[in-house]
Amino acid sequence: MTIHIGAQPGEIAETVLMPGDPYRAKWAAETFLTDAVCINQTRGMLGFTGTWNGHRVTIQGSGMGMPSLSIYANELIRDYGAKTLIRIGSCGGMQPQVKIRDVILAMTASSLSTPSRGIFRELNFAPSADWGLLKAAHDAAVKKSTGIHVGGIYSSDVFYDERSDLNEQMTRHGILGVEMEAAELYILAARYNVRALAVLTVSDHLLTHEALPSQDREKSFGDMVEIALEAAFA
Ligand code: ADE
Repeated sequence: MTIHIGAQPGEIAETVLMPGDPYRAKWAAETFLTDAVCINQTRGMLGFTGTWNGHRVTIQGSGMGMPSLSIYANELIRDYGAKTLIRIGSCGGMQPQVKIRDVILAMTASSLSTPSRGIFRELNFAPSADWGLLKAAHDAAVKKSTGIHVGGIYSSDVFYDERSDLNEQMTRHGILGVEMEAAELYILAARYNVRALAVLTVSDHLLTHEALPSQDREKSFGDMVEIALEAAFA
């Protein structure tokens, strides 16, 4: 057990999918895993371990924002031996060609700051995805004919962002979408020499102000979970 995860040693798989929402972890485990067992309930941040096509997988909620994700990813890697961590989450679209329900594979994650900022001091470290996972996720998405985009995203600390000028600069520089966790996940993966990727469903759009209707969410999020699972075991 760690401070934030109640799982016993050995109860967490080397491959971990990390949605922000603990109830999405429950839904994904019940929908996609066989024999899923709840291995963490500490602070309600649910985690489940089961199998997918014979492979052991844990689906553990990360909470919202980089400070929360950083706690769970640190403990999963350092205390439970996680080797492949894939964020599955939603994002806001930032380019006209990016449509609601499309999937973004985050090749890089820009940010103003991350919980790791202090150790880098003046260095602007470039957080990037694991190439093998990224390629495998792209192959899986192409087979599904999901609308797919690969490129840079923005990991923000602010959901209700007053800085419209910053969002405009992100769009101008080709950033595909905004979410709140991936940059720190990529930095931790680099630090501990493990694999990481963020697979993101576009749930709302900063340019068009559209949002994914709630009845469409499960199907759209399901594509993302399958892409993540196929990539992890390709
Ligand atoms: N996650 C989903 N949509 C988002 C948005 N618009 N900003 C930040 N994170 C998000």
